[in-house]
Amino acid sequence: MNSVSLRPARQEDAPVCGDICFRAFNTLAQRHNFPSDVTSAESAIEFIPELIGHPDIYAVVAEQDGRVVGSNFLDERNLILGIGPITVDPDVQASSVGRLLMEHVLDRAQEQCAVGVRLCQVAFNNSSLSLYSKLGFQLREPLSAMQGNPLDVTIPGYQVRAATMEDLESCNDLCHRVHGHDRCGELRDAVTDHTARVVESREGVTGYATNLSYDGHVIGRTNDDLKALIGSADAFGGTGILIPTRNTELFRWCLDHKLQVVQQMSLMTMGLYNEPQGVWMPSVSY
Ligand SMILES: CC(C)(COP(=O)(O)OP(=O)(O)OC[C@H]1O[C@@H](n2cnc3c(N)ncnc32)[C@H](O)[C@@H]1OP(=O)(O)O)[C@@H](O)C(=O)NCCC(=O)NCCS
Repeated sequence: MNSVSLRPARQEDAPVCGDICFRAFNTLAQRHNFPSDVTSAESAIEFIPELIGHPDIYAVVAEQDGRVVGSNFLDERNLILGIGPITVDPDVQASSVGRLLMEHVLDRAQEQCAVGVRLCQVAFNNSSLSLYSKLGFQLREPLSAMQGNPLDVTIPGYQVRAATMEDLESCNDLCHRVHGHDRCGELRDAVTDHTARVVESREGVTGYATNLSYDGHVIGRTNDDLKALIGSADAFGGTGILIPTRNTELFRWCLDHKLQVVQQMSLMTMGLYNEPQGVWMPSVSY
């Protein structure tokens, strides 16, 4: 293989990175007869510029013979950093470009003294599972990506409303109780983007969601908090919401409400990880 070099992504790389992202996920999905995580080149070309342009997301591209052949992202908004999406042009996959892109962001995380890095891996992707495990990631939690029609369900005693900046403290506190750290950077962005919502019960704010979609995470005191939040969604964005499959009560509730399992995924972590003390749903990042 001709030598591959890495450099920070620039906004003008977005179209080619978006195209690679679409083709990489689409090729993988077609090979296994699953729906693709990235449904169109247009959708990838829409979200990649946002990632490249975000001040707290590090973006890197791999170049071979002056041509961009892959990209990776490191979400640095919180204490725990999130990796992905990583994609390599199908024409050059299986020739160590993915490894280079992963090692690069792991080095950067180490330089920043990050206490932990995480990602969610598509379970049928043998290549990424092997690569991440060899790099030191540990599989922590099986996840079911679920999709379907909005449930339009309310849970008595639980009211869902849009989150505001005034809710940040109580939401961060809830996240801290469950995970041992908050996700303040993402939550702040979600409030600004008007995708965040909280659930209130007799005890005040008892849960929140940055979004009911593939890229949103959810925290609650009890499963009723999560049910109220899921039940309030107008739609489930992207591939769907990620349900920790070992939360049998919630998983069955989603099945009973006609959500379909799209694919299995795995939460993988390196560095600090606390067994969650409460109920939660990860985003596709972690
Ligand atoms: C996942 C992806 C980024 C990996 O990039 P890549 O350039 O193909 O991967 P690399 O060649 O650098 O590394 C793959 C590693 O996994 C190993 N591997 C691949 N398939 C394997 C298998 N079935 N069993 C064991 N090991 C396997 C390879 O031997 C290699 O290990 P090595 O680095 O120790 O030699 C790329 O395949 C891709 O873009 N896939 C589609 C998008 C995607 O799924 N992204 C990840 C989302 S979780």
